[in-house]
This record gives sequence, C-alpha cells and structure tokens, in this order.
Amino acid sequence: MQAITVRDRDAGTAGMSLTDLPYPHAAENDVIVRVHASGFTPGELDWPATWADRAGRDRTPSVPGHELSGVVVELGYGTTGLSVGQRVFGLADWTRNGTLAEYTAVEARNLAPLPADIDHTLAAALPISGLTAWQALFDHGRLTTGQTVLIHGAAGGVGSMAVQLAREAGARVIGTGRSADRDRALGLGVDTFLDLQAGRLEDAGEVDVVLDVIGGDILDRSAALVRAGGTLVTIAMPPRVQPADGRAVFFVVEPDRARLADLATRVRDGRLKPVVGAVRPLAEAPAAFAPGKRTSGKTIIRVTQD
Ligand SMILES: NC(=O)c1ccc[n+]([C@@H]2O[C@H](COP(=O)([O-])OP(=O)(O)OC[C@H]3O[C@@H](n4cnc5c(N)ncnc54)[C@H](OP(=O)(O)O)[C@@H]3O)[C@@H](O)[C@H]2O)c1
Repeated sequence: MQAITVRDRDAGTAGMSLTDLPYPHAAENDVIVRVHASGFTPGELDWPATWADRAGRDRTPSVPGHELSGVVVELGYGTTGLSVGQRVFGLADWTRNGTLAEYTAVEARNLAPLPADIDHTLAAALPISGLTAWQALFDHGRLTTGQTVLIHGAAGGVGSMAVQLAREAGARVIGTGRSADRDRALGLGVDTFLDLQAGRLEDAGEVDVVLDVIGGDILDRSAALVRAGGTLVTIAMPPRVQPADGRAVFFVVEPDRARLADLATRVRDGRLKPVVGAVRPLAEAPAAFAPGKRTSGKTIIRVTQD
C-alpha cells in the first residue's frame, strides 16, 4: 500500500516521502480502515510519539496523520462494535502508524460510525479539533451556561470548534486572533473579537474560562484574566503561570466514541461546521505539511476517492 513516511527527525518535511509499505496488521480489538480522508497536525514532526513507541523504541519509518475517515475492511481478533463495510471516523493512536496511508490499523474504540450523509473530507476535519474543543471547554474548563469564555486562536482548527460549541452551550464568547481572523471569528459566533496584534489582552476583562491554543507569553498573561474559581485550559504547553485563585490545566486530547457520535450529529444538524481550508491528494501531503504552506482552515488529505 502507499503511505507517507518520515525517517529522519532532523530532516523535517524534506524527510517525508510517498512509500510502499506492507498492509498493516490488525491486533486484538483493532479494525483495519481503508482511509478515504486523513487529517494531520502541522507540529507532528516535533512530537516524541512520531519517532518512538510507548517503550521509547525507534519506530521509523513512521506514518504521520492521526485523524481519519474511511471504511472498515477487516476486524482484529475479538473486535466488536464495528463491522466490515461500515463508514467510520476518529482518532488513530499517537504511537502507531497513522492515517496518511491507504490502510491503517486503529483500536475500534477510537472510532465512531459515520452517517452516510457526511462526506469523508468533512469528517476527517472533526476528530482532533472537535474532541479537543469539547474536552477543553466542558471536561476541563467546566464551562456552563451564562459564563464567559475567552478562546485564543478563535479562527483556527480547535478555536473555531470551541467558539461554536461554547455559543451553543449559552456562554458569552470572546475570541482572539490576528487582524485577518476577525471576520471569520465573528462569522463563527464570537460576541467580541480581540485582535492580539492591535489590542491589549488585558482589556478582555475577567472571564470564567480561558482556552489557550497558542502558549508562550499569551498563555502566561492569560492567567491574570481568570476570575476566582475559574480555569485556564491550555492545549499548547504546560502552564508556567497559575491563576491567582483558579486552576490551570494542560491536557492531551483523548479518544471518545460517544462524543465523536455527538459531534457528527451536530454536523448533520448544521449546528457545527468544521472549517476545511484545502483538500490535497496523498502525494502532496509533504508539501501540505511544510511550514508556511498552510491555508486558513484545516488541510485534509484525500487518500481515496469514494
Ligand atoms: N494538547 C492537545 O491535545 C492538542 C490538540 C489539538 C491541537 N493541539 C495543538 O494546539 C495548537 C493549535 O491547534 P489548531 O489545530 O487549532 O491550530 P491552528 O488551526 O493553526 O489554529 C491556531 C490559531 O491561532 C492563531 N495564532 C497562533 N499564534 C498567534 C498569535 N501569536 N497571535 C494571534 N493569533 C495566533 C493562528 O493564526 P495563524 O495561522 O495566522 O498563525 C490560528 O488562527 C497546535 O500547536 C496544536 O499542535 C494540541
């Protein structure tokens, strides 16, 4: 089968290539998925899990990409809950070969059935951004109706999902980003947009929850915005500054079949819109990964046509 592999940590995207790999092995409780569409995170080449397995052993050549939408073609020993021929979408394990491939082995529990009327391209844009936004706002941030949340990078992958989910939950949303992000953020439903290039972050006032996707200085300064009892949630890096009278949480997104199914329902109902910026074939994945080549919205790699 054809797959994109990375072999050399120091080579960056120049070390990515379209390669012939053996068809994957289905372990216990796995399914093999014929990948139709794959999503990736631009920073993946910096993740330890791209280069080593859970025991820290080298696992190159490894296949990046950890979101997928496709069709189940094989069940592993003892696998239940999904069937051959079923459309599915979800998250692939971080420390196994990923989804920039014609076939991939995934634990069945990391996938949810994909309704027939949602296109694979749209579905592949949903798992990481959608699950991360949900877990950040509601599991870690404990955001409730009537509260105020400040969402950094409101026009980006996670931010755009978070804005829509927070609005639907009845929260007041302050979105931040660059000047060019203003219209998209307002279109997604932020009540107020704060241009981080022009305005002072401190002008946002006190909020119940901050969702940070940027890290660094923006994350440090966000701690002071959290009101007593509130939460600073970040997906960028462990926080260096704590809110004076609140919590700070850094987490890595976890698979969740039930939540994936809920997100798919929201997409079908038109209540949640993943922002797909570009769709490219598998052979162009290395170019799509390259720094500075990103478009606004998620880039999806179309591996197989329907
Ligand atoms: N911990 C986890 O489980 C988890 C899960 C998902 C993602 N992540 C990480 O979270 C980060 C965000 O992911 P994403 O998919 O949302 O990325 P994304 O689509 O690139 O969104 C980030 C947004 O923030 C904006 N931004 C970045 N730096 C900024 C700054 N200094 N001032 C103003 N705006 C700024 C970006 O604008 P530009 O595009 O113009 O820079 C973009 O609109 C990535 O580092 C990703 O690896 C972590």
